[in-house]
Amino acid sequence: MIAARDAMEAFSLSEEAEPMKIAMIQTSPTNGRVTENLKDAAALAANVDADLVVFPELFATGYLHASKEVAASLADDGSGETIAWAKALSKQLDAAICGGFIWKNGELIQNAAFLVDGDEVLDLYAKIHLFDREKVPFDQGEAPTRVVECRGARVGMMICYDWQFPEVARCLGLDGAQILLHPSNLVLPWAQDAMRTRCLENGVFAVTCNRVGSEQDLTFTGQSQITGRKGEVLARSPETGTDVQIVDIDPTHADDKQLTPNNHRFTDRRPELYGRVTRTS
Ligand code: ACM
Repeated sequence: MIAARDAMEAFSLSEEAEPMKIAMIQTSPTNGRVTENLKDAAALAANVDADLVVFPELFATGYLHASKEVAASLADDGSGETIAWAKALSKQLDAAICGGFIWKNGELIQNAAFLVDGDEVLDLYAKIHLFDREKVPFDQGEAPTRVVECRGARVGMMICYDWQFPEVARCLGLDGAQILLHPSNLVLPWAQDAMRTRCLENGVFAVTCNRVGSEQDLTFTGQSQITGRKGEVLARSPETGTDVQIVDIDPTHADDKQLTPNNHRFTDRRPELYGRVTRTS
């Protein structure tokens, strides 16, 4: 309980954070056509005025990859086409850019997300919960989520199916995140509603940026969503078609964890009674 408060204070910003403009760009990539997908994504972002722009999971490569070799042929080691594109777009828009990509992380091929600001890579996150057929081409991430400072806000990345595990959003919240960046390729119908609960539980904002279109037997469900710290839907994209949504938020509102004068989302927890959650058997 004390640790949660310490984490918040350790991250407190030196100056009062300004309201932040967040853009979410719902795309419709074609599998394997990285250059074309990046071009299309940049065209959708061309007139966006925002501090932070979020794209979907795997928006440059597409989602389904038959083998590790196929995924590796589309991967970026941090100095490839997708990260170079993100740095260039960041400079063009004067905005931080987040999105999903295939990360060649040493010998590993991972479903990952980047957060880039100008030439600086603020964070790379490899998805720790792989969904269904992702287990064929991808190595799961082994590192915990992290919170980093981005344009005056504290943000943390999670990817798509991570929504199913409340521990992910909880860890990010306890580590001081104000905004969860959540690039997604959703095919199940529940994540948008679940993210409302994740936000309410942790008093954080979330940007769930989904894609549309189909690959093989999968149809992606669109409805990208920016969620407020009380679980309210601040913006939602349509179920089909590409889309751009921009919302102004004040990230510092996420520092207020009170539910009532007598109830604090984090200090009311009883982690000494929750040991079952972290036992592995
Ligand atoms: C998913 O995790 N892309 C469903």
